[in-house]
Amino acid sequence: MSASPSTNDFILQVEHLSMKFGGLIAIGDLSFQARRGEITALIGPNGAGKTTVFNCITGFYKPSEGMITLNRIDGSSYLLERLPNHEIPARAKVARTFQNIRLFSGMTLLENLLVAQHNKLMKASGYTMLGLFGFSSYRKASAESIDLAKHWLEKANLVDRADDPAGDLPYGAQRRLEIARAMCTGPELLCLDEPAAGLNPKESAALNELLMDIKNSTSILLIEHDMSVVMQISDHVVVLEYGRKISDGSPQSVRTDPRVIAAYLGVDDEEVETVLIEVGDEDVIEQLDTGPDAAHGPGTSSSFLAGPVTDTIGHSEGERVTVSKGASKAEQVDAKANAAPRKPAERATAKPTGSTPKPRGGRK
Ligand SMILES: Nc1ncnc2c1ncn2[C@@H]1O[C@H](COP(=O)(O)OP(=O)(O)O)[C@@H](O)[C@H]1O
Ligand SMILES: [Mg+2]
Repeated sequence: MSASPSTNDFILQVEHLSMKFGGLIAIGDLSFQARRGEITALIGPNGAGKTTVFNCITGFYKPSEGMITLNRIDGSSYLLERLPNHEIPARAKVARTFQNIRLFSGMTLLENLLVAQHNKLMKASGYTMLGLFGFSSYRKASAESIDLAKHWLEKANLVDRADDPAGDLPYGAQRRLEIARAMCTGPELLCLDEPAAGLNPKESAALNELLMDIKNSTSILLIEHDMSVVMQISDHVVVLEYGRKISDGSPQSVRTDPRVIAAYLGVDDEEVETVLIEVGDEDVIEQLDTGPDAAHGPGTSSSFLAGPVTDTIGHSEGERVTVSKGASKAEQVDAKANAAPRKPAERATAKPTGSTPKPRGGRK
């Protein structure tokens, strides 16, 4: 149960995680770590496996393979794939929100936050009707729960609407209420599945503010499509494509990683080179300017690197999954990098602009 000081720097360690649904490998041999006190973002196109990773962490799915270790601040560690899912919030102190908002819309905001503290109140009531008779232990726990609920309503800038039904709130406020509700369970790791989806810029800014505040006390694992949110508030970004990790690092390094640009921004095959040039990365441009591939004849289109109409991607233990043509843009970039010898002296017909390409929308 105890953890060494070095592993305790990481609140979450995911090692060789795989999740299969019949023949589909939704996650293949994924490893990454989330540092305590940071916001770690998990990004990637739709279907990349992000929500499946959350479902494995929070016990909704039992992974096919791999280990997920949660290191609590007190030094205790939990193997999440072995814990019954109802014990993950209580013992490992992991809370989550869902991609689709799940509030009790007919209850008030305050009631929603009190329901989240149901376990604590049940314990204080001795699992009997002591609460009804006003026993002091229950009264104390009840007052503490209300204080905690008010504290998070204030943080989420919702205290003025504490007595309104949750269903009456605008969308952005409902998202913040969900996060406040998760925080009322006292998590050490908060997992948020696309909290900025559908928010307008003002709501998105309010969300960023709330998450930066939460980060002071709780580590965050964030699935997000909105790159402005990811770039502004993340400390560390892990990028998935087809269930495999294609990049892992600081927001800046991930932002200029050609594999991420090709995969995450969902560009068409013929656009891949253009996007890589726009990034202005010296190495990338060098790779692009290596001339035509003798085996495929003249041409500069990246499409010849996309491989056959169907492609197979290796996964752990020699398993393979068939994906559609050119599915992995990251693999195209890797293929390009390995395709031909470099010609450093003759390169640089393309001029780097130094600008970052504008997002063209995730693959839908
Ligand atoms: N319960 C399930 N049964 C079968 N396939 C699933 C299930 N959950 C997810 N998948 C598949 O796993 C892949 C990854 O899905 P998901 O994790 O939801 O992606 P993301 O959140 O990155 O958009 C998809 O191909 C999806 O259809
Ligand atoms: Mg998802």
